[in-house]
Amino acid sequence: MVVQHEINDPIGIFDSGVGGLSILREIHRLLPSEKLLYVADQAHVPYGSRSLEEVQSYAVGITRFLLDEGVKLIAIACNAASSASLQYLRGVFNDIPFVGMEPALKPASQQTRSQHVGILATQVTFQGALYASLLERFAQNVTIHQSTCPGLVTQIEKGNLDDPETRRILEDAIKPMLMAGIDTIVLGCTHYPFVIPLIKEIAGHRVKVIDPSPAIALQIKRVLKDKGLINTDIQNGSISIFTSASPTTLQSLLPILIGDTMTVQSLFWDIDTHGVSILSRRAKL
Ligand code: DGL
Repeated sequence: MVVQHEINDPIGIFDSGVGGLSILREIHRLLPSEKLLYVADQAHVPYGSRSLEEVQSYAVGITRFLLDEGVKLIAIACNAASSASLQYLRGVFNDIPFVGMEPALKPASQQTRSQHVGILATQVTFQGALYASLLERFAQNVTIHQSTCPGLVTQIEKGNLDDPETRRILEDAIKPMLMAGIDTIVLGCTHYPFVIPLIKEIAGHRVKVIDPSPAIALQIKRVLKDKGLINTDIQNGSISIFTSASPTTLQSLLPILIGDTMTVQSLFWDIDTHGVSILSRRAKL
């Protein structure tokens, strides 16, 4: 059965945690009349140090949940989940358009003058086939300097956007890159736009920081436009946020992260009789 999507249907967005809110913020800015459903899988954050298979199984569970909610497009606002599952999800759920993330190596390789580019991303992203193919296509004449910034996602999940530990992690990652002559830094994890001020402070004004979130929002707009699914009725615009961990913790961080307060709703993971991870609004009794 082919599913017909309607203009008023919501857009689903997901990440392991708060990172994808950097994408949600841009989507809401560009498409204020869209209904946005955001899932933060904080029961499993960080995704970056898990296996590709594990991250893919969570991405499938979240996709099923969002499809049940009637979304018209799914934005995988997470580089790690895109790397682990984008191709698979497109193959299995072919009724729904997916927009995923990939480290912005293409623009970086076009913009760099020193031919040295720094990439900050998580382990899963660096391990995936998507990243290998980007390196092959866009890093032939550029030297890439990678860092997984151990502990940074956890710091951002706690709302520590500018404390000594966050600063230390970023200095450890960026200073060797500066010594090697980078003039461009690619943010290959959606959590990292929240620490752009600190990254810029450490890297200095000569280094360009590439934040992919505006480009992703534009891509979502293009896909919806192609399908005739853009909503222009401002009355329809809304944001709903769900988490698979404690809603109060996330709720308290929203003013810092997106400058807004709202009620966060709970989601629960369960395993069905076939051993498949299921995400739903109700806890199993
Ligand atoms: N925000 C994510 C990303 O873009 C995942 C970070 C994590 O959970 O490790 O990769």
